[in-house]
Amino acid sequence: MTDPKAAPADPKDGSSGQASAWSGRFAEPVSERVARFQASVGFDRRLAEADIDGSLAHARMLTRVGVLSSGDLAAIERGMATLREDIRAGRYAWSVADEDVHFNIEKRLTALVGDAGKRLHTGRSRNDQVATDVRLWLRREIDALAPRLRALRLALVSLAERHTDTILPGYTHLQVAQPVTFGHHLLAYEAMFARDSERLADCRRRVNRLPLGSAALAGTSFPIDRESVARELGFDSLCPNSLDAVADRDFAIEFAAFASIAMMHLSRFAEELVLWSSPRFGFVRLSDRYCTGSSIMPQKKNPDVPELVRGKSARVFGHLAALLVLMKAQPLTYNKDNQEDKEPLFDTVDTLVDCVEITADLVANGLEAVPARMREAASEGYATATDLADYLVRKGLPFRDAHEVVARAVRAAESRGVDLARLPADELAAYSPLIGADVHDVLTLEGSVASRDHPGGTAPRRVREAAAAARAAIAAEGGP
Ligand code: ARG
Repeated sequence: MTDPKAAPADPKDGSSGQASAWSGRFAEPVSERVARFQASVGFDRRLAEADIDGSLAHARMLTRVGVLSSGDLAAIERGMATLREDIRAGRYAWSVADEDVHFNIEKRLTALVGDAGKRLHTGRSRNDQVATDVRLWLRREIDALAPRLRALRLALVSLAERHTDTILPGYTHLQVAQPVTFGHHLLAYEAMFARDSERLADCRRRVNRLPLGSAALAGTSFPIDRESVARELGFDSLCPNSLDAVADRDFAIEFAAFASIAMMHLSRFAEELVLWSSPRFGFVRLSDRYCTGSSIMPQKKNPDVPELVRGKSARVFGHLAALLVLMKAQPLTYNKDNQEDKEPLFDTVDTLVDCVEITADLVANGLEAVPARMREAASEGYATATDLADYLVRKGLPFRDAHEVVARAVRAAESRGVDLARLPADELAAYSPLIGADVHDVLTLEGSVASRDHPGGTAPRRVREAAAAARAAIAAEGGP
């Protein structure tokens, strides 16, 4: 969760024992236990780049409005460049005594450049600072995630294109319902992930608003120029209310809600892969790279990757619940409770990115369809019974009566252990005089899927169209 390159935070490093940024108000320093308890640097150092970017934009603005001298700004820029390099190289020793990423950086900056570092915090508070950092960090993660989600969709489309004519049973209640094409089934998932992409883009709009300038809660008496900070940091607009800006984390909750829905979709797909790859179904083979064996049962090949994707959805749903509960009873404005928003948010991002990437890879490189098994299953479950009913309706029978006729025919076929299509036309005719020699055209699997020929239907030519449309939409969104 934390940057693996970063040096560990040491509770007894050089900074402990020194005065903390707010210690003037206190007669004695906090106990080491409290220092450790309230420190967030162990995880929020992940915000370091965002924190530095936010501080630089703030300092430049303060200089433009005449609050900081250009000499101070130059010193801050120089110091921050050194800090950034040290952090990136993993040379930076984070200090638990300095509480969080913000104090760590400010203190080290001051050690490097002197008074200019102490002036940086003019007109801001850690409250608007942390809200800004989290938004900036999350926006960057969103921008990295969006193309990965599109890559997953593209992998599904590519596989669908190869299987526009491959027939498998469609299920309701996990009972064979009607034949569909494998391409159509895969594009159902593409449609789900396409909505996830939409939700992500929409969430980004509300993430990308600037809290900085709200200071602790009430704003600042300095003549700040928030618009110019927003422009420099790439925010679309300002948070319009200083109290709300430092208090709310609904943008993080919204992201966790988006992520939960996406994980739910991934989990459903994973569940189908687990079923399909089981010998009973045998609809797909997962390549060995995505499976593991059993330590005791030599015959086993377990679909661990999809199982884990399914399992990991649980923690993301948990993070959504955690963030909601974290927020729900907080009085305005900022409360230290909010420090607890980071780990759930970070883990939500990490888990989702991991699951999206591995699923895309599995679809593109680790999944082999077994059309013969799919077809066999589709031929066994009376999947074309609805087609027979529709045939009778076209010959004038009301649908409810047709349903009844076919139900009786299915019972007869079942008692003889054969599929409807195997019953001779004259035998079928015993159930309705409307049944003629042409009946077998509608009882074939190909006839059944080809007849569902409308937008959104499973007919192979519609699936080809849908795949092309999905491909075009992904390209229009920017591609992977
Ligand atoms: N580490 C804190 C957090 O994550 C930063 C803000 C602290 N502000 C304060 N007034 N104590 O929320």
